[in-house]
Amino acid sequence: MPYHVADLADVAARTRLVEALPATLDRAILCAGKGHYRALTEEVDSEMADVVEVNVRANIHLTHGLYQPLVAASGRIALVGSVARKGASTMPIYSASKAAIDGLARSLALEWQGRITVKALHPGPTATGMSVRSGRPADFFDRIMLKPEAVASTILAMLEENGGYRRTISYPRILTDTLLRRSTT
Ligand SMILES: NC(=O)c1ccc[n+]([C@@H]2O[C@H](COP(=O)([O-])OP(=O)(O)OC[C@H]3O[C@@H](n4cnc5c(N)ncnc54)[C@H](OP(=O)(O)O)[C@@H]3O)[C@@H](O)[C@H]2O)c1
Repeated sequence: MPYHVADLADVAARTRLVEALPATLDRAILCAGKGHYRALTEEVDSEMADVVEVNVRANIHLTHGLYQPLVAASGRIALVGSVARKGASTMPIYSASKAAIDGLARSLALEWQGRITVKALHPGPTATGMSVRSGRPADFFDRIMLKPEAVASTILAMLEENGGYRRTISYPRILTDTLLRRSTT
């Protein structure tokens, strides 16, 4: 399976990535994202622009480029948002960018209905270290975050579901999936 490394904040790199896409593709998950744990009044223009570039413009660019390969395979695509899309104090730019992803996914789910299945999948806080890297001081909450492996497998499962473009990945959902898997194996 070939892979390509690309800086998604770089339009030229994104364009090369789209040009390298195969003619048909049955599944795509757009997961790259970044953000800062910072009040709006402490934000910096260039860093706000970078978050919007990676979280919003790159997703628009890539979904545009992925249409032909995905439609050729009647494929499925997931855009990874966040529960922060509802609005979160000290994460206004990140929250806004994730709300934009939800709007993009909803629009494409309607526009591409019957051709490509589109999902907006919104994880809750997950123990990948992103929270601390984004500037939030570590505290007790970090110890009860969702496990990355459980979130990843839930994303894969949700991408295969029919009906409804939006899903939230939370403890109740992960527990239900785990119990259902156990009862069928
Ligand atoms: N962790 C959470 O609590 C949480 C909660 C809800 C939603 N999410 C979302 O889940 C997704 C994955 O986050 P994570 O928790 O796994 O965070 P992470 O460990 O910081 O991973 C972020 C990913 O985005 C990639 N990325 C960032 N900027 C990029 C750029 N300019 N070009 C290419 N790739 C870039 C990173 O690539 P490199 O490793 O190469 O830098 C990395 O693979 C993100 O969309 C995030 O917003 C996370």
